[in-house]
Amino acid sequence: MCGIIGIIGKSPVGPLLLDGLKRLEYRGYDSAGVATLVGTGIDRRRAEGKLKNLAAVMEKKPIEGTTGIGHTRWATHGRPNETNAHPHMTPQVAVVHNGIIENFRDLRRALEGDGQSFETETDTEVIAHLLSQGLKAGLDPVAATAETLHRLEGAFSLAIIFSGQHDLMIGARRGSPLAVGYGDGEMFLGSDALALAPLTDRICYLEEGDWAILSGNGAEVRDAQGSVVERPVKRTAVSGALIGKGGYRHFMQKEIFEQPAVIGDTLTSYVDPLKRRVALPEVSCDLGNLPRLTISACGTAYIAGLVAKYWLEQIARQPVEIDVASELRYREAPLPEGGAALFISQSGETIDTLAALRYAKAEGQHILSVVNVPESIIARESNAVLPTLAGPEIGVASTKAFTTQLVVLACLTLAIGRAKGSLTANREAALSEALLEVPQRAAEVLAMDAQFIGIAQELAEARDVLYMARGSLYPLALEGALKLKEISYIHAEGYAAGELKHGPIALIDDLVPVVVCAPSGPLLTKTLSNVEEVVARGGRVILLSDAEGLAQASDGVAHRIELPKVDPFVAPILYALPVQLLAYHTAVAKGTDVDQPRNLAKSVTVE
Ligand code: AGP
Repeated sequence: MCGIIGIIGKSPVGPLLLDGLKRLEYRGYDSAGVATLVGTGIDRRRAEGKLKNLAAVMEKKPIEGTTGIGHTRWATHGRPNETNAHPHMTPQVAVVHNGIIENFRDLRRALEGDGQSFETETDTEVIAHLLSQGLKAGLDPVAATAETLHRLEGAFSLAIIFSGQHDLMIGARRGSPLAVGYGDGEMFLGSDALALAPLTDRICYLEEGDWAILSGNGAEVRDAQGSVVERPVKRTAVSGALIGKGGYRHFMQKEIFEQPAVIGDTLTSYVDPLKRRVALPEVSCDLGNLPRLTISACGTAYIAGLVAKYWLEQIARQPVEIDVASELRYREAPLPEGGAALFISQSGETIDTLAALRYAKAEGQHILSVVNVPESIIARESNAVLPTLAGPEIGVASTKAFTTQLVVLACLTLAIGRAKGSLTANREAALSEALLEVPQRAAEVLAMDAQFIGIAQELAEARDVLYMARGSLYPLALEGALKLKEISYIHAEGYAAGELKHGPIALIDDLVPVVVCAPSGPLLTKTLSNVEEVVARGGRVILLSDAEGLAQASDGVAHRIELPKVDPFVAPILYALPVQLLAYHTAVAKGTDVDQPRNLAKSVTVE
């Protein structure tokens, strides 16, 4: 998943391209580059690594030109070095690409056979050569682009400029998002509205297969068959302000500490505090008669779905199937007539989740989505959208998006329970009350932040860390492990506590910390027995519980963290915070790049 931007401007575009790339860096940061039209040629600057390296190159050697393209890369094919950095070009064209060209090897062989020589290991470079081949054959840029798009297989969003054609830029999308921005005598292309926000708030999202021919005065959009089509231009509310860290050391830390506020904001739009009753946005299906709700997502969003499965089945008595999106779309699961499918995604652009959505739609399911970006492609392809109000999440590790997803899913649970008649008004009121208390309880946990720093030092020394829990907290063991591994690079695994004795306990010795999420409740005793099994083998247990739970715990526990006591219904939301803080402080202790961990990107728009 990469970020792309293009500008047909009225003034030198170098600084604007760089500024736009700053807003896109969360999509990939293995390398970056820009290319502009200068006279009858194309000029280019590229740098390996973070965007600041490209900025240094451009500072030393500024680039001219009022038409240009830019790119931040998450490497799919070819090492993350300067040679493989986009834009890729020939003397005639320059192109930036987000996605994967699946038939690039065949195309490259044919082009090399036609005498074209390649400089890079990337799939993208074939696009530049195909375009050049078309131009050399006498096609104009538009015809050469049409011919090239016809030969590409795979997913892509592209921005293309042609030497000497200062008032022309072509964008295309197939599977990866691309927006056209409308300025005053200027036109823009961008991977999302965030990148274009300082330049314009008039945005048109290209549909699947669309391509757009831009000049400074506007754009002509064509569909995959080449017919001119109309696409709506909308005003976007995305702020142009470059989001800062607000005095925090990292975006992730800021976003962890924003959770009481954004959980409150999300609750406000879903729960009536006076009636203590949930009110969902318009959901155009009968929630009371769903034979099955199929849930699918990736990563942390998938883990939120796992928590929802416990809630939906226990409280709403709603049958649920859940699978990671990259599996659901290929295992051809038969989905029931009259069923619904729910897709959870912070970015709303994750291609695996989008593909699973399209599979479920093809299977006749009613499509619901929980997204943090209402303009995203997943939202646009859903029948009903349940937005989280987390605000932009910049840290690659998802935190506030996760807890607000859980809040929305908890509200969906209550709404389905009411619709099915499996939840009384009193019970709904009690559970709504429990939800409304979460922001305050979350603030209390964040006030304990210092307690996690010492324990994190211990985790930072570990080679392996295990997490375990039971019931609706079991997914939090998975989430804690995912958070730790993705930002501190320590191997970590989450287990259902009852599973430990079926193999994983062989890993336990005094070098393996075991984090246990065990609030008081019906499963506490069983979980504390599993704690004993770990302690008996020298394992160092870090026990997260409330006063009642800690009072029953073994003396052999190495660390105890007392959390506020909450209704078991909302414990999964609250226990997300300590596992986030543990991961954050461990990564800080290790000195890894908390906001942009190696090999990762915020939005995974390649399969
Ligand atoms: C979470 O910390 C990860 N960054 C990753 O697992 C993420 O949750 C996953 O890629 C799904 O992203 P989405 O919510 O934008 O679809």
